[in-house]
Amino acid sequence: MATTEQLTAVPVVIGGTCGGPPVRTRRRDRWWRAPAATVAFLSAFVAYATWAALENRDYFVGAAAHRDLISPFYSPCVAASCVAGARGGLYLSWWAISPAILVLAVPLGFRFTCYYYRKAYYRSFWRSPPACAVADGHRRYRGETRFPLVLQNLHRYFFLAGLVFNVILTIDAVMAFRLPGDGGIGVSLGTLVLCANAGLLWLYSLSCHACRHLCGGGVDQFSQHRVRHRLWRLVTPLNARHMQFAWASLAFVALADLYVRLVASGVFSDPKLF
Ligand code: FES
Repeated sequence: MATTEQLTAVPVVIGGTCGGPPVRTRRRDRWWRAPAATVAFLSAFVAYATWAALENRDYFVGAAAHRDLISPFYSPCVAASCVAGARGGLYLSWWAISPAILVLAVPLGFRFTCYYYRKAYYRSFWRSPPACAVADGHRRYRGETRFPLVLQNLHRYFFLAGLVFNVILTIDAVMAFRLPGDGGIGVSLGTLVLCANAGLLWLYSLSCHACRHLCGGGVDQFSQHRVRHRLWRLVTPLNARHMQFAWASLAFVALADLYVRLVASGVFSDPKLF
């Protein structure tokens, strides 16, 4: 085994590895699979979400089809151009383009600044670094101390704004139990889709690191803060699964939009379950 003196005598190459010629990594496993999968999945989501947001149609299934289903990409629908039945009492009369562009700003800001997604896209898109024990793709490292990455600190505010959207999408899920002209109240496949979507979004938000900090951060003695301790214990096991909730909720929100879109465009009817 090498002594401490021998180890410290080996030159350390920045951007390479300790000892031997400067190579990007000595890993032999397929470490590139996770960043490659992240690039593929996030690119597919961004492409689909952009198309769906600009499409500006087929985002609502209303009373004419005996349903009350709205795509999560278009809720709350707060533009004057929203289709009848989808728009609430408050709306922006001057907004002429797709209402989804208004809606998606907060959820996308929340996801973009998420600690987990930051790790995922820093590794996969920016190769900074691509994986553990793999050299950084850049010569210099500045962290998140300067513009524009310093804006990542807005995450805690996006978290709070995101909770408002969760409440709205939960109301949408409850409204999906309405089957106007088809028995009044019931459950269709669309009801379950919107309920599952809202549930996953809550799990994603409640497992957020900012949420855990809000519950139990900055406390010296939990014995003095029983309620915060309880909340912290509640969200901590969720926090351990934040990555899973991040991917599941991202995939499902796109699936929920696709489901509403297919029903609204007449590709198939939303089946009533009971
Ligand atoms: S850390 Fe991921 S949503 Fe807050």
